[in-house]
Amino acid sequence: MTPTGRKVTLIEGDGIGPEVMEATVRVLQALGAPLEFEKAGAGLEALSRHGTNLPQSTVESVLRNGVALKGPTGTPIGEGPVSANVALRKALDLYASLRPVKSVPGVKTRYEGVDLVVVRENTEDLYAGLEHLVVPGVVESLKIITERASLRIARFAFDYARKNRRRKVSAVHKANIMKLSDGLFLDCCRRVAREHPDLAYEEVIVDNMCMQLVRAPERYDVLLMENLYGDIISDLCAGLVGGLGLVPGGNIGDGTAMFEAVHGTAPDIAGKGLANPTALLMSAVMMLRWLGMAEKAERMERAILSVYAEGKVRTRDLGGGAGTREFTDAIIAAL
Ligand code: NAI
Repeated sequence: MTPTGRKVTLIEGDGIGPEVMEATVRVLQALGAPLEFEKAGAGLEALSRHGTNLPQSTVESVLRNGVALKGPTGTPIGEGPVSANVALRKALDLYASLRPVKSVPGVKTRYEGVDLVVVRENTEDLYAGLEHLVVPGVVESLKIITERASLRIARFAFDYARKNRRRKVSAVHKANIMKLSDGLFLDCCRRVAREHPDLAYEEVIVDNMCMQLVRAPERYDVLLMENLYGDIISDLCAGLVGGLGLVPGGNIGDGTAMFEAVHGTAPDIAGKGLANPTALLMSAVMMLRWLGMAEKAERMERAILSVYAEGKVRTRDLGGGAGTREFTDAIIAAL
């Protein structure tokens, strides 16, 4: 950590959050990345300390620094405040969720050669959380889809595809049933696709997409979808390459971004030193790239992948016996 480095807001989060964050900071420091960290709270820990799961000071810290690295945050199910994640994405207008899913050499799964990216709209859909009791026994939940947000995410997906030399964008929908809402989303995707005639474009109904992904995931490249489908499919995709402990994520807006693992707080293994820090480490690699530190990003990614390729040190979720610290030490040694 150099005192003159780029400031990054660090949100440790709950459960295994502090453990995987400690591992990630150790690797970033060993890498000599010119970063300075500013800690901020969110999630259940923040709720018990500050009475809110998303203190205003946290939002201000991310706005000031323009970038955050975040561990998972817990959310009470069926009651309590809106999830800190959803609130952060909304408050910072981080409208694009980006989840690269790639086979890791040395990690044996049912599939080989998976290399796809889930681009998920992050600000609306059923995630707007607009629910109310109509009469006892009847609840209404509103799915909001707007032209503005749909065009914006479609542009993001096609721009990403172009910049990252991807070939195909697949829009995922259920417009056969939700003709107006998903119909509008699809119409926006088509309009943007016409601006990019050099990129292949296809439309796949979400249930069929799930089946296709478990049959032949290597056929897919950039998957573009609304918020709820994106939430479900990104976890399905994580399963294709070895699970939630491996897959990174970025929430990106115009000039502000927050990078986080896809997994949750893993209450079953929290505090035991068993968590696999790879997802947050790979999220930090994405962050370094977004900050323009490509050389550091490559070096860190190579070190992580080489530990997997060698196959000697593995965490328990991938059938090994190493704890978080031992695994992190191996990566630092590989740097
Ligand atoms: P989870 O991801 O916490 O756990 C699912 C399973 O995966 C568990 O068996 C867990 O041990 C394992 N796992 C997850 N991450 C792992 C890692 N890094 N290393 C090794 N094993 C790992 O999902 P769950 O149980 O549905 O959610 C628990 C809490 O996390 C909930 O409060 C939920 O709201 C929150 N959550 C937060 C997210 C975020 O902040 N981005 C995302 C998903 C859930």
